[in-house]
Amino acid sequence: MTSRPFFDAIEQASRDEITALQTERLRWSLHRAYGQIPHYRQAFDAAGVHPEDLRSLADLAKFPFTTKHTLRDNYPFGMFAVPRAAIARIHASSGTTGKPTVVGYTLKDIETWAHLVARSIYAAGGRPGMAVHVAYGYGLFTGGLGAHYGAERLGCTVIPISGGQTEKQVQLINDFRPDIIMVTPSYMLAILDHFRAAGLDPRASSLKTGIFGAEPWTNAMRGEIEQSFAMDAVDIYGLSEVMGPGVAQECVETKDGLHIWEDHFYPEVIDPVTGAVLPDGEPGELVFTALSKEAMPVIRYRTRDLTRLLPGTARSMRRMEKVTGRSDDMLIVRGVNVFPTQVEDQILRFDALAGHYQIILSREGRMDDMEVQVEARAEFFGPASDEQGGALAVRIKELIGVTARVTVLAPGAVERSLGKAKRVIDRRQG
Ligand code: DLL
Repeated sequence: MTSRPFFDAIEQASRDEITALQTERLRWSLHRAYGQIPHYRQAFDAAGVHPEDLRSLADLAKFPFTTKHTLRDNYPFGMFAVPRAAIARIHASSGTTGKPTVVGYTLKDIETWAHLVARSIYAAGGRPGMAVHVAYGYGLFTGGLGAHYGAERLGCTVIPISGGQTEKQVQLINDFRPDIIMVTPSYMLAILDHFRAAGLDPRASSLKTGIFGAEPWTNAMRGEIEQSFAMDAVDIYGLSEVMGPGVAQECVETKDGLHIWEDHFYPEVIDPVTGAVLPDGEPGELVFTALSKEAMPVIRYRTRDLTRLLPGTARSMRRMEKVTGRSDDMLIVRGVNVFPTQVEDQILRFDALAGHYQIILSREGRMDDMEVQVEARAEFFGPASDEQGGALAVRIKELIGVTARVTVLAPGAVERSLGKAKRVIDRRQG
């Protein structure tokens, strides 16, 4: 069992097989949404479409989008296609303002989810019998429990530590010798610092694979983590509204973007302004339709995540490129569009600078001011890191096109997050 290259035969299916399966499942999902959820019935009727109008996958473009607002307007349980009593579990994502977005799962949905996370861990190089340290937060956030059920389903030993208690994380990694860690990439850097502070060599740790997601991160960050820990670092993507972690997973053999598990989620990339569906290869906003979910068959959900669709490589299912950021995370500084990942990419080119950073925006009169606060690496803190801070400002101006002040801080000075990092503090409002 452990030697097979794929977890599921479908990972090698032909495009024709995938299309046939998707078409069949899409019809099922549209009928379910229309038949069981008043919002979809109204929205489809208003758009003059009926589930029967779907003859091929391209017909999905006629159906209306679903957004976070739709979910909020139907708070808490209005988007469920089954009675509350048939819901086995609820998760919610907090969001920055107002009511949380609530999602529900039947037992079968949880089984599908566990299966897809097991498939994801397998694609990352995980095998039955390995030990998995889960440092994603447990609770309403889908990261911890999603990873947990998937690792168990694969036949791994799970260490459910959740986020926080960083010293303890290091101690348990040292004592329990897990093969795999599942955590946000930014928190992995915090764990790295504690390894060094404890006098332990991270490269000598038992960890061979890291499955990182829940926030944007760059290939430069991959290099940083892989070098520091002597491990393979791969990307996992997902969102609560569509399922949780395990919607797409990067394969360890290619590390070339994330294979979308297209047998359960139908992806589209749209122009975020016009809503038009873009051809594969074009960058835009990712949209998902659930193909198999019982409790919450979300139709054309606008993720706000920016990426593009690419053909399959290690698996026949299509890939999504590493997410650049969410459209709402795009900063407009003096008219220039900037994503935090672009800044991260530049920071990690300097050996005296660490991956802990924050972007602070403020307004001086009518002018936006952008400050990049970045930590020095301990061994370079002082004139060397200051000099590289200056060079970073020059690179940001040259390559991103925006003037930024770079402030190099002492190691440990940038606030650590236990989960998703807060990369931007915008003080321009008001
Ligand atoms: O973050 C689910 C998850 C947990 C994914 C653990 C991977 C690992 P939400 O809290 O609903 O769910 O946030 C979803 O996080 O729309 C993206 O903006 C962002 N995101 C998730 N994975 C990635 C990734 C979980 N690999 C939102 N790269 C999504 C970039 C990601 N952004």
